[in-house]
Amino acid sequence: MPAFAVHTPAQTYEAKVERGALAQVGGHVPAKAGKVFVVTTEDVWRHHGSTLTTGMGGRSFELLFFPGGESRKRFSEVESLAEQMVARGGDRASVVVAFGGGIVNDLGGFLAAIFMRGIPVIQIPTTLLAQVDAAVGGKTAANLVSGKNLIGAFHQPLVCLIDPDVLATLPEREYLAGLAEVIKAGIIRSEGLFRLLYDQHEAVRARQPEVVEQCIADAVRIKCEVVSADEKESGLRRILNFGHTIGHTFEAESGYTRFLHGEAVALGMIAAIHLSVMTGYLPEKESLDMLECIRRYGPWPIAAGLEPERLLARLSHDKKTIKGTVHFVLTPKIGATEVVSGIDERVVLEAIRKTVE
Ligand code: GLY
Repeated sequence: MPAFAVHTPAQTYEAKVERGALAQVGGHVPAKAGKVFVVTTEDVWRHHGSTLTTGMGGRSFELLFFPGGESRKRFSEVESLAEQMVARGGDRASVVVAFGGGIVNDLGGFLAAIFMRGIPVIQIPTTLLAQVDAAVGGKTAANLVSGKNLIGAFHQPLVCLIDPDVLATLPEREYLAGLAEVIKAGIIRSEGLFRLLYDQHEAVRARQPEVVEQCIADAVRIKCEVVSADEKESGLRRILNFGHTIGHTFEAESGYTRFLHGEAVALGMIAAIHLSVMTGYLPEKESLDMLECIRRYGPWPIAAGLEPERLLARLSHDKKTIKGTVHFVLTPKIGATEVVSGIDERVVLEAIRKTVE
């Protein structure tokens, strides 16, 4: 199975998509490394801990449990994990293995980014969403009371090990939410991936291994290409925010309790597709296939009850808003994007209304 290179000024590394990749982790820990700290949750450890332990191939490691959940993705948890590392002999030669879903990848990556001013991290994502998005590309973060991911650092991993086998234990809701990010990858950059998702939706939903591996590999390849072209999101990387700009408002307005991130992205993509049509970038006829593809992976939680005006107001607080200007990622056709600012608020409101109602 494939390995995709990410090239950044700081380093070049691989995102490996391979069944059984967990069994190779020990081989990726540098020979000269000091203590290895595996940051994980009890739930992930219960399901996959023995596989990781075997994969370490006799290399000793310290386990650091993080309680999990968006509400615990806070700086205080990073501090507590760092204190535990020091207490257990962590130093500048230590390595973090972030082993879990997107929250663990973000928080474990942030811990590594700032522990003793930065130590290496190996990312091992265990949810589909984290495999195709969060764990690849070096964004690390914690939440503030004022908003999600508002503190963090770019810290590229030594390697990202993506093992489709771990998805077998993933609950259906999380699996489908992860597929939203795969659909996003298809819409923004690959008609081939989009058609695979559209035509083979039954096989994808039934988690047929070859089809799932193909979806993951395509999405990871796209993410690696985009990050290699623009590590710090000053240009091309913005296209990865397709569906996220309005999607974030659904998450924030419902206090991060009602939607999984991928579910909010699915709704945000529906809004972005409506907006693309309403602003004249996307012919309505072309939008139908996109909307149908998203529908095939539903039903998505409905956004009814959320006030469109309040959602609109939240857009200007999003961290993607630069100097008060909201940049929308629109799509003119499957596999392509257009980053647009200065859209009339009334048009944006209408696109949100069409999504919420
Ligand atoms: N999740 C969007 C990015 O990594 O840039």
